[in-house]
Amino acid sequence: MGPLTADLLKKYDVPVPRYTSYPTVPLWSDSPTAEEWIQSLERAFQNRQASWSLYLHIPFCESLCTYCGCNTVISRSHSVEGPYLNRLQKELSMYLEQVSALKVRPLKELHIGGGTPTFLSVTHLEELIEGIFSKVNVDPQFAGSIEVDPRRTNKIQLEALRKLGFSRVSMGVQDFNSDVQRLINRVQPKELTEDLTRAARALGYESVNYDLIYGLPRQTLETFLRTVEDVIELRPDRIALYSLAVVPWVKPQQRLFKDEDLPQGADKRKLYELASERLVKSGYLEIGIDHFALPDEALARARDDKTMHRNFMGYTTQTTDVLLGLGLSAISETPDCFHQNEKTLPNYDRSIDERRLPTLRGHKLSAEDRVCRRQILEFMTRGEVEFQNPEQKSDVTSFLSSMIDDELLRVDNSKLCLTEKGRPFLRNACVAFDMRLRRINPQTQVFSLAL
Ligand SMILES: C[S@@+](CC[C@H](N)C(=O)[O-])C[C@H]1O[C@@H](n2cnc3c(N)ncnc32)[C@H](O)[C@@H]1O
Ligand code: SF4
Repeated sequence: MGPLTADLLKKYDVPVPRYTSYPTVPLWSDSPTAEEWIQSLERAFQNRQASWSLYLHIPFCESLCTYCGCNTVISRSHSVEGPYLNRLQKELSMYLEQVSALKVRPLKELHIGGGTPTFLSVTHLEELIEGIFSKVNVDPQFAGSIEVDPRRTNKIQLEALRKLGFSRVSMGVQDFNSDVQRLINRVQPKELTEDLTRAARALGYESVNYDLIYGLPRQTLETFLRTVEDVIELRPDRIALYSLAVVPWVKPQQRLFKDEDLPQGADKRKLYELASERLVKSGYLEIGIDHFALPDEALARARDDKTMHRNFMGYTTQTTDVLLGLGLSAISETPDCFHQNEKTLPNYDRSIDERRLPTLRGHKLSAEDRVCRRQILEFMTRGEVEFQNPEQKSDVTSFLSSMIDDELLRVDNSKLCLTEKGRPFLRNACVAFDMRLRRINPQTQVFSLAL
């Protein structure tokens, strides 16, 4: 992809969802009861081939990074570990008692995220994973992955996880510039990340991912390019390049940022452009949105074989019918339902102690939702999608006429295809298939009307 004109970046710089689910979480409306949620799981496993993935949320962090949009609990004390892990095991047991298929169907993926999962001691990590493995049927091709904060992770933890079959590790990096790091309350010398990357490689981890964020306070093209050059030198297998989500009404610590320090609009997008160009030039492939991978990495191979999948964890290499999320705020999904756990620790704890599933909310998918979900997933993972019928073709092409005129999209008989030039605007095009958003806000546009 050649450089994009500033005009295009400006024109399509409108807020659009990241589509890790359809409908997107703010548009969930029809919540299941805990009983309906269990029934949806049972329905999913009526398909004899159905397999599942497990997500565990460990919310704890020792300190708060001021940009953080994740669901965290800040605690210097590690006495919180034991009680939380007991409740996680109880939550799993409640599911196993009610949905017997979970005991026998292959568990294909286990992802531990947070917060900071390596907040847990090595003993607790081992007990947690061994406890789960003793209760379910782990697939021989099982993939285990974990998110780690290099400031709070040691080699012994990585070694223990590797012995338990974990093969992918994702490190929070964000930015190497010391000025930026100070402003985000996350001082993390490059050597720390470098050492942990070396350790992971020596232990035989197949894939090391770095998370980077563009749009952080005081990031400039020059400083961020330096960060990207440092990243290229360390050569992680995968890179997630996230746009800073600024949501001070949900995350008050973001109010500490000064407006004038935050790159915005086309200036912010330019940071992504520059980083992406540099990564592609040095051998990385751009995968879907926000993600880059070396050509022989599993995600790049999955994209080429058209087996890549997308769910709440982002892009994944395995397609499973059921994603079960355990722990604070964790989200689960089946072919016809979403389910989210309580988001505050006291509520979560109380539910588990009373032996109730910690259901906060969810969404039962309608027949139309299921079609939209399939089409958006197809477009997000393959960059092309088959129209349902001639009526949809006519609606979508008219809705996206501006993107087609700008050669960001191409209509190929019965298919809509993303062009090379259109890659940065994949999410804008997905809006055409987001019938809930379009119905709620018929004025929705994929470009800025102000230009
Ligand atoms: C759970 S954290 C990763 C593990 C660990 N807690 C750490 O920070 O190293 C998940 C990732 O979400 C991203 N993230 C957090 N807050 C964000 C925000 N406001 N906007 C964009 N990305 C964000 C960061 O890149 C972060 O590494
Ligand atoms: S970015 Fe990671 S370490 Fe920082 S507060 Fe958020 S979850 Fe915790």
